Amino acid sequence: MNNSILKKGVLVLFMFVLGLQTQAQTKNITTKALPRVTILATGGTIAGSGESATKAAYTAGKVPIDILLSAVPQIHDLAKVKGEQIAQIGSQDMSVEVWLKLSKRINEIFKENSADAIVITHGTDTMEETATFLDLTVMFDKPVILVGAMRPSTAMSQDGNKNLLDAVMVAASPNSKDKGVVVVMNELVFDGRDVTKTITTSTSTFQSRNFGPIGLVYDGKVSYYYQSLRNPVKKFDVTKTTSLPQVEIIYGYADASPVTVDALLTTNVKGIVYAGMGNGNFNAAVGKSLENASKKGIIVCRSNRAGSGRITLLNEVDDAALGFVVGDDLNPQKSRILLMLSLMETSDRAKIQSNFFKY
Ligand code: SIN
Repeated sequence: MNNSILKKGVLVLFMFVLGLQTQAQTKNITTKALPRVTILATGGTIAGSGESATKAAYTAGKVPIDILLSAVPQIHDLAKVKGEQIAQIGSQDMSVEVWLKLSKRINEIFKENSADAIVITHGTDTMEETATFLDLTVMFDKPVILVGAMRPSTAMSQDGNKNLLDAVMVAASPNSKDKGVVVVMNELVFDGRDVTKTITTSTSTFQSRNFGPIGLVYDGKVSYYYQSLRNPVKKFDVTKTTSLPQVEIIYGYADASPVTVDALLTTNVKGIVYAGMGNGNFNAAVGKSLENASKKGIIVCRSNRAGSGRITLLNEVDDAALGFVVGDDLNPQKSRILLMLSLMETSDRAKIQSNFFKY
């Protein structure tokens, strides 16, 4: 063997060993660097199961978390994933009790530093309410992502697996810090404060009607474009809370009778959100009953049934004289959550109004 062939052989061997070493190091670094994501499952269509791949009928919240996760093995390339079953319900049955359980568990996980981000699988019907509740009560800046599906896991072209993969991608993205609670659906990232379900059955149901999505998930990448300036300055500590003050929603419409508001006055209700017409308006009969409620110390918050826009203070309605507050751009169901949390701490109207303008 001549000298130059030997030299070449040694060089090739050296490069090969170096390559192996670098590969091992990279793998080590990658494994070490994988963020820890805990998935908290609550049920919903994403865990729904039906008899047929082509029919719409199914039961929400049937499939347990370990089966959901095993259907999307790709998530393990993105994060060290752990799953926990918090509830197994259709989100129509979401309750203050489950919200408190969820919020306490998230605060606990972040406090003991056992995860870098949390993904919550959830039904889509009340996902926007849970997003708002958690946005206001999770005391940490780490990513919290809600995800669901419009088609059950047994359906042809089901959307849950892809949504779950995208949600874990958002959870694992270093850019997702300080975004508050977000909702990931249909390759879009929404601020949990603003997002709402807008179409009864479509996969493109989630929208932020006033401000649009804050980011996109596509081709394995998460790209953020906007960030809300209204993410909560104030957080509500519910770590020791067991119940919330009762707040109900009344819907406004032409020729509405005051009976629903009057019925509430005989209960222990502490707040009423009025889903008013236009800029939160009411007819005379309902207005009188709302005024009576306010005089009894019940906080009346004007919101709107239009689905977008905001309620302006002291324009068509003399809120100061009537003792009403306005929900700003929060829809009725989100206004209810902020009002319940506010009432936990105060019944001072000015302070409650300030919470609505700051959030
Ligand atoms: C639910 O909200 O649990 C049922 C509907 C859905 O998840 O899409």
